[in-house]
Amino acid sequence: MAQVKFTNLYKLVPQKKKIFSKINFLIKNSKFIGGKEVKLFEKNFANFVGSKNCISVANGTDALEMAVKSLKIKKGSEIIVPVNTWISTAEAVLANNHKVVFCDVNLEDYSICVDDLKKKISSRTRAVIIVHLYGNPADMKTIKKIVKNKNIKIIEDCAQAHGTKINNKHVGTFGDIGTFSFFPGKNLGAFGDGGAIVTNSNKIYNFCKRLKNHGALKKYDHLFSGRNSRLDTINAATLNIKLANYRIVILKRNKLANVYFKELKNINEIKMFNLNKKNKSSFHQFVIRTNLRNSLRKYLSKKKIDTLIHYPYMLNELKFFKSGKKLKKAYKLGNKILSLPISEEHSEKEIKFITKSIKFFFKKNNITN
Ligand SMILES: Cc1ncc(COP(=O)(O)O)c(C=O)c1O
Repeated sequence: MAQVKFTNLYKLVPQKKKIFSKINFLIKNSKFIGGKEVKLFEKNFANFVGSKNCISVANGTDALEMAVKSLKIKKGSEIIVPVNTWISTAEAVLANNHKVVFCDVNLEDYSICVDDLKKKISSRTRAVIIVHLYGNPADMKTIKKIVKNKNIKIIEDCAQAHGTKINNKHVGTFGDIGTFSFFPGKNLGAFGDGGAIVTNSNKIYNFCKRLKNHGALKKYDHLFSGRNSRLDTINAATLNIKLANYRIVILKRNKLANVYFKELKNINEIKMFNLNKKNKSSFHQFVIRTNLRNSLRKYLSKKKIDTLIHYPYMLNELKFFKSGKKLKKAYKLGNKILSLPISEEHSEKEIKFITKSIKFFFKKNNITN
């Protein structure tokens, strides 16, 4: 079999003709900033998520940073962040002059560990950022119970979770505010950077709408000092077309995930996700865990199967966070996890080639290869 790439971003663009002709139209008519396409995307995405409001922004990092700011909590407050996530989740806390408190993750879906969350809450905790990592939904029901009546806000980082649902309700709508990324490699990716904030709170909505536009709702109407964080018109138009087709993406990823689950279930050396069947993962990544990660990765690479690691370090291992405290489940997790190829452009045949190769590797005599 030819190389199995981790992703092929060009292949992942559906309806190319439609998208290219839309972009052509926008360029010919000099529509680059704001306008109908951006407004339409905000409406479409709010509907898709089932949220009252959506504010498009320049990227998922901005969305998180603005989300934290919109909570207007006292400087120096503690905000709890899971330790296995992309760095942006923690950066958003520091950028707002608050203190990051790292929390352990669970080994079933790799989102925040609810038992450790209980332990990490102090009188200074004012918010928690829940990351629906790999497209798997975190246990929002339990998390909401834990923070209830404690004056703790919830931000949901849904950068990897477009279409992820708990009991048919989209993630990002359980807490006070949800954030998304449309980075090209995400399940719903733009032709460059993009992001969004969703919220049912009109107060947060009005604040973020101004914040992303220099504190103004219209030209020269500045109420405070904000920033420039815009989703470009070309990207909004692309996302409108991709979103209309997105249901198929989730279906395909779920189908391929089921192939992995079925084919790898008898390999004792591998641990896979253990997900609640009532919920829906968008399978942004399919991550397995094994003590033989490095040799398995080497073996798959020889077979021309691309793999990645999300993430090779836990954030508390980065020196500048000054929080090297050991967390039980996340300890050395970066040495054991491996992300296998999964996307709507992969074929079942490719996934079966991967699982066959993994099975072969774990046959006793190959373990040391
Ligand atoms: C969990 C998580 N949070 C935040 C981000 C930041 O998004 P962006 O790259 O659009 O700034 C990402 C994307 O890499 C992510 O995976």
